[in-house]
Amino acid sequence: MSINKDAHGGPLVNRLAYGVEREQLLRQAAELEKLPISSWSISDLDLIAVGAFSPLTGFLNEEDYRTVVDSMRLANGVVWSIPVTLPVDPVRSKELKAGQRVALVGEADGILYAVMQIESIYETDLRREALQVFKTDSEEHPGVAKLYARSNVYLGGTVTVLNRPTPDQFQQFYYTPEETRALFAAKGWRTVVGFQTRNPVHRAHEYIQKSALEIVDGLFLNPLVGETKADDIAADVRMESYQVLLRQYYPESRVALGVFPAAMRYAGPREAVFHALVRKNYGCTHFIVGRDHAGVGDYYGTYEAQQIFGNFTSEELGITPLFFEHSFYCTQCGNMASSKTCPHDKSAHLHLSGTKVRGLLREGICPPPEFTRPEVAEVLIRGMGGLVSQSS
Ligand code: ADX
Repeated sequence: MSINKDAHGGPLVNRLAYGVEREQLLRQAAELEKLPISSWSISDLDLIAVGAFSPLTGFLNEEDYRTVVDSMRLANGVVWSIPVTLPVDPVRSKELKAGQRVALVGEADGILYAVMQIESIYETDLRREALQVFKTDSEEHPGVAKLYARSNVYLGGTVTVLNRPTPDQFQQFYYTPEETRALFAAKGWRTVVGFQTRNPVHRAHEYIQKSALEIVDGLFLNPLVGETKADDIAADVRMESYQVLLRQYYPESRVALGVFPAAMRYAGPREAVFHALVRKNYGCTHFIVGRDHAGVGDYYGTYEAQQIFGNFTSEELGITPLFFEHSFYCTQCGNMASSKTCPHDKSAHLHLSGTKVRGLLREGICPPPEFTRPEVAEVLIRGMGGLVSQSS
């Protein structure tokens, strides 16, 4: 296998307008109905426009929405596991018609982002969507809570983006799929493993990344920096921690760091498939799926996000998932291991929950170096407003 030339479901999508076309659309947009869209929708819009969500050319129309929710496929059969939808105010939706063009405007900044050709306006059963996509209808689930906070009327249709959102930080780590593909090629990589994370890179992450790197040419560290839940560590702090870690512990020629500006859904198994397909669009040939990928609380089984890939053939996916067992530091082995490679009892394994680690960091205490590299812990403590008081 070599760098994925094709994107998922066909050529890489590009829905950005340039030059004369853009000027024309900007003039026309002034006359169109203006619909306010949230920062979440703006991030989806941008990922559609640059082809990260290929083959989507817009927000899901009704037919695609139904098949995605029911069977993890678009109406044409292409695998797609997460509905990427545009909610619209129900009252406002009554004034709109299929076939009409509307202007999508940021609700907070008033910026005109795109023109959308409406294909369908449809009402949905949010509880049903929650059960299908998140496997729960509980409002305690952060993804479900977000879903319920949105309107249940969706607009589907192709978009043409006139203005892209400008990142307010770490701009140099924003790449389009076209750019990451060029970057991987320039590095001479034929095989690239993508790594999704919404957390700092701890030793277990490092272990599975480097295990994967033993069999492919390059690692694309692709942290998600869109909306996450409030208690996840802020993206700017994480970005600093990744850079410190990469500088000191990874060979430069083997790693690329670029952000994934999507919102976190916390949809576990379905989101793992979605994450893999998007990384295929960025040019990855492999994708890491470890324990409870994109999970939250106890909603998903530890390896459910791996098992879900069994629903699809490797041709349908077009990217090879690499599955890793729960990894940890074993005091008996004296190194990182997993249940696949370590024969020792649980008492020899170092386990720390995310809550426990965040608690330590908030108090200015570095977690054990077998859990987090001290250089990383120091960045996290400072980033969380604390002083480093003790290293263990
Ligand atoms: S995620 O929500 O972005 O998936 P996280 O940043 O914790 O969460 O995980 C990033 C990737 O590392 C996921 O594929 C996850 O399954 C994997 N992972 C996290 N911790 C471990 C671990 N201790 N052992 C094996 N895999 C892990």
